[in-house]
Amino acid sequence: MAGQTFSKVDFSKYFQPPSLKDARRRRREAVQIINDFTIPDDMETVGREKRYLIETYGCQMNEHDTEVMAGILEKMGYQETDELKDADVILINTCAIRENAENKVFGHIGALKTLKLEKPGLIIGVCGCMAQEEVVVNKILAKYPQVDLIFGTHNIHRLPQLLKEALFGKEMVVEVWSKEGDIIENLPQSRRGHIQAWVNIMYGCDKFCTYCIVPYTRGKERSRRPEEIIQEVRELARKGYKEVTLLGQNVNAYGKDLKDLKNYGLGNLMDEMRKIGIPRIRFTTSHPKDFDDHLVEVLGKGGNLCEHIHLPVQSGSSAILKIMGRGYTRERYLDLFHKIKRAVPNASFTTDIIVGFPNETEEQFEETMSLVRECQFDGAFTFIYSPRAGTPAARMKDNVPMDVKKERLQRLNKLMDELAAQSNAKYQDQVVEVLVEGESRKNHDVLSGHTRTNKVVNFRGPKSLIGQLVKVKITDAKMWSLDGEWQAETEAMHQ
Ligand code: 5AD
Ligand code: SF4
Repeated sequence: MAGQTFSKVDFSKYFQPPSLKDARRRRREAVQIINDFTIPDDMETVGREKRYLIETYGCQMNEHDTEVMAGILEKMGYQETDELKDADVILINTCAIRENAENKVFGHIGALKTLKLEKPGLIIGVCGCMAQEEVVVNKILAKYPQVDLIFGTHNIHRLPQLLKEALFGKEMVVEVWSKEGDIIENLPQSRRGHIQAWVNIMYGCDKFCTYCIVPYTRGKERSRRPEEIIQEVRELARKGYKEVTLLGQNVNAYGKDLKDLKNYGLGNLMDEMRKIGIPRIRFTTSHPKDFDDHLVEVLGKGGNLCEHIHLPVQSGSSAILKIMGRGYTRERYLDLFHKIKRAVPNASFTTDIIVGFPNETEEQFEETMSLVRECQFDGAFTFIYSPRAGTPAARMKDNVPMDVKKERLQRLNKLMDELAAQSNAKYQDQVVEVLVEGESRKNHDVLSGHTRTNKVVNFRGPKSLIGQLVKVKITDAKMWSLDGEWQAETEAMHQ
């Protein structure tokens, strides 16, 4: 793009529009595992002396995609900056899960217009889940000519080629494959930390919960081979990482598509993880329907498998769960919950809950409240239902007014606050193991980290503890965090 004007899109050339309808189809053909990622010769040094900035919205999957895109850009010579005005390439990695996430992104793209006018050579790219939606792409095409490049979640490995088109072509480049691609194993990654790491174990989701856009934006379920995952985690252990989180939209479906491995599931993979010399292993996100007994049994073995389960329930009403297409009832969720609790007695549990699903009655909402009370969750991500165009729930008539939804959310959040405070109070005077992740954001003299049960702990100690597992005695249990004292003597005894 040159000068002060913005060029028009040449639909015939680079434009590959997304289609939620195509994305809905699930094909039978096997997923290819390929290792042929390369940077074209003429793009190897294109980023020399140039800087990039990636803004990430949404879930850990997006955070990890950002690490891959950063790795690709760094392979082309770009260096990272956190100043918008210094960037030559700005990528916005977006989230489509709720409307307010999308609005934030549009606000931000709008604000970048001035920067683009000041610096015409700047490349602005929009990627991630929103790029998979045709309404979003059409809106960008119509209203945001400052954008040079739009690419989807299945096109990340094509970033060098797409960037080339954007840098040297005149048109806005749009490439969004609605059909999920293959698994590309040799993509570079520029990890954001040296203590904790995320590892994808599978991509996509086949669950099609009626409110959710993810199966459309992330494609069908595709599992990475266990040997690739084990090798990656071993390598992270060798490099000194202390904690690995295995990632997938629905990790309990792991292995179902690996037809040559009979009945190989997440339980088997976690059993392999136990043998790797890394102190902490976590996994997210679980789906109650596919959470099987083998996994429960393996989690019960403990070791490096952390005692924290994120188990989204979404609603406590079987009738609502049915319309959501979740595939379990309130009773089955509770059975599973108690089964895990018996196998891992000191586990902490967190969940996701949607309030105000179309036509949710007061009684049905109360069923959610009573389930929350029964499970005494340690924490919950709570959301007001947000209709997503193209999903079945968005076509349902809804008789619940927004102020009622807001009031229900408030009641639920109040209950969650009480439960969080109660669960944290149990830690008072206990000595816990903390992985020290860095300085507290609020106070640089204080160190901060998490327990194995995923509680935030703040305490004073030397900076040299960052990256280590230390013992901390809890002196003040607050609602959402724990304050404590570093147990230096206990540490010395163990060494
Ligand atoms: N509206 C509100 N919340 C949603 N979630 C997913 N889709 C929607 C939606 N349309 C929530 C679910 C999910 C979490 C990641 O986001 O609770 O578990
Ligand atoms: Fe969305 Fe349901 Fe898949 Fe989770 S399991 S990503 S809520 S469709």
